Amino acid sequence: MMYARSVQLTEPLTDIEKKVLEQVKPKPSEYELMRRVFEKIQETILSVLEAKGVEAEITLQGSIAHDTWLSGERDMDVFVLFPKSWSTEELKTKGFKILLEAAEKMGSYMIRYAEHPYVRVVIDNVEADLVPAFKLDDPSEIRTAVDRTPFHTRYIKENLREELKDHVRLLKKFLKSIGVYGAEIKTRGFSGYLCELLIIAYDGFIDLLKKARYWRPPVKVSTIREEALLDNIFRELVKRYPDSYMYVPDPVDPRRNVAAAVSLKSIITMKIASYCYTFNPRIEYFFPPRDQGLKEDKIRDMIRRRCILLVILPVKEALAPDILWGEIQRIADRASKLLRNFDFTPIDWSVWTDEREVAVIALEIDECSKPYPRLYYGPSHHSLKRVHSFIKSHVMRGSFGPWINEHGELMALSNRKYSDAKKLLIERANEYIVTPHFKGLQPHVEALDEYVDKLKEDMMNWIVSFVKKRPYWMDYCID
Ligand code: CTP
Repeated sequence: MMYARSVQLTEPLTDIEKKVLEQVKPKPSEYELMRRVFEKIQETILSVLEAKGVEAEITLQGSIAHDTWLSGERDMDVFVLFPKSWSTEELKTKGFKILLEAAEKMGSYMIRYAEHPYVRVVIDNVEADLVPAFKLDDPSEIRTAVDRTPFHTRYIKENLREELKDHVRLLKKFLKSIGVYGAEIKTRGFSGYLCELLIIAYDGFIDLLKKARYWRPPVKVSTIREEALLDNIFRELVKRYPDSYMYVPDPVDPRRNVAAAVSLKSIITMKIASYCYTFNPRIEYFFPPRDQGLKEDKIRDMIRRRCILLVILPVKEALAPDILWGEIQRIADRASKLLRNFDFTPIDWSVWTDEREVAVIALEIDECSKPYPRLYYGPSHHSLKRVHSFIKSHVMRGSFGPWINEHGELMALSNRKYSDAKKLLIERANEYIVTPHFKGLQPHVEALDEYVDKLKEDMMNWIVSFVKKRPYWMDYCID
């Protein structure tokens, strides 16, 4: 378990890290742009509030408020805090309508849904989310998930030292490059707030990386000063989140696990990349080399003698990204299990969607076609009834065997139901395409080598990394 420290000094940044910061720290003009956009939003919402005679506080939240955002980012979180005397229903209707009216005055906008609706406006290329929430005095009064956010901002402003803001930026950039930044289902990685808490708990970027190499999930990170309470807090968190691989109590609401969504893959990726970076620090860990694209014939070369199948599904309706990615991940997992049940050996899978029209599952299998009869293992000689039915069924099927091997085990060679993996995935689609929004759809299944020329650029990048397998940063994990 890792406890927060306060005495040791933060390890100073190296030249590489300083160089990274030159690029990832927002420029004065970017701060100026954000200030201008926020002022415009503030003025517009204020005018609607005044016209309606409603009192509310317009606040800046998230990484811009914490000053941990990265140069080039254009996302702003604006929370409008309405009186806590309102009901949740009033917040969703009256509060939301005020924000909608303000958005109409500002330019292009769209309605988005989380636990309750909010509005996204685009002003001077800045995407600002306008979120209605309650103005609360204490976290114990939290009614909806978004009510925590203003307390997070207060906590980070009070606890993240000025110097450590840049360490958060380095961590975010590092995690983005190795593909584990963001709590969405698509990534199941580290959220911005989790990065901030990790930097506070481990006291800096290098200090965190040096400790991460010793992580053994479930990883428990202390974010609470009252050490006497820690054991109970972790016990409670493990009970509430039995499937998590990392436990980080939210300092403003310790019954919530900030790291609930982090997958084992993300934690181990972070652990190994941290280990590699600490013995061979290279700028590439923050900036993936651009030339990752591959030409079609190079891909063909790499997939020769490999079996990679694509299961292509249409996306029939607009779905929230978390729902969509969650469903296609489940479908891929079921497809992989189906293959295994029919004696194929799935090696790896990955999913991709443009989030509008199409969802694709890539499955790599040891062999696409298995002409040789299937080896069946019989029951143990301890249960003669089952032995009997095994013998009977194979005699009737005309199998080779059963026979008894040197270890006294029954075995038989018999025909397989499916000798072709593609045919199996087509004919048994209803056994793995089982999620609410895809159920009943007939997929298009193709071998990758027949599909290479049809790949569009964004899908191509995903396929290239699936085919290459090795994350780019491992090329630098050498001495
Ligand atoms: N938040 C949260 N849990 C999440 C995601 C977000 O509690 N899984 C809250 C946090 O209070 C966070 C705020 O929502 O500060 C804004 O989150 P988001 O806009 O997703 O990210 P940022 O923290 O702003 O980071 P960045 O924009 O740099 O990615």
